[in-house]
Amino acid sequence: MSSNAPGAASVKPMVVGNWKMNGLKAALSEALAVDEALAEAGATVGSEVMICPPATLVMVMSELSGKGGMTVGGQDCHTAETGAHTGDVSAEMLADAGATAVILGHSERRADHGETDQLVRQKVVAAHRAGLVAIVCVGETIGQRNAALTLDVVSRQLAGSLPDEATAANTVIAYEPVWAIGTGLTPQVTDVAEVHAMIRSRLRERFGEDGEGMRILYGGSVKPSNAAELMGVDHVNGALVGGASLKAKDFLGIVDVYRQK
Ligand code: 13P
Repeated sequence: MSSNAPGAASVKPMVVGNWKMNGLKAALSEALAVDEALAEAGATVGSEVMICPPATLVMVMSELSGKGGMTVGGQDCHTAETGAHTGDVSAEMLADAGATAVILGHSERRADHGETDQLVRQKVVAAHRAGLVAIVCVGETIGQRNAALTLDVVSRQLAGSLPDEATAANTVIAYEPVWAIGTGLTPQVTDVAEVHAMIRSRLRERFGEDGEGMRILYGGSVKPSNAAELMGVDHVNGALVGGASLKAKDFLGIVDVYRQK
């Protein structure tokens, strides 16, 4: 299958590392190694490369990197700009620390913190208010997949989690089947193709041209050995990578899929 789907030729792929709750200062060397490799590869990189570390490392990582064009994102934000919300971080704070994007509605936040589509949509609005790109996650559980509910669930999450003002420039979708996260399991490429095609048609229906250009990432056990196959599926415009983004060597093995040789 070709990644050059009609109308998608101008979509620049994106490879995003989600460090989750991993990474002390010592781990910054991995991010710097990624940035340095990108600097060496120069114009041949072929994708936008981003790491989303824990909030504690956003500022220092964004200050230390950038030589190779690597960008830095957050993993969540509050809906409000400021206020009495102990322990929370606002989109404006992430932007102030040097982030250019924020992951929202990750299945771990939906499960651990009871985040609903409505709350995710409010967070997307907050991200846009602060000038951040919102990376909005959707995906079914194994029970939902076994009950043949995947397309319904993802379609509902997509409709509920995106505000009307989402554009190709300020919003990225990440399809992450919950059962594929951190398990080493991945869907069949035909299943990935089916879900990504459905997402694309929903985005087109709702956002027109912008829906055509909005990037749709695949996430869930992406590693160097399966990245080429997964990234080759129609309407897969990059990857959201968990475990394999913690080591520069593995992450660069995935980034390499888009390298223009
Ligand atoms: P893994 O790549 O570790 O499966 O995690 C995927 C993920 O949840 C990225 O957001």
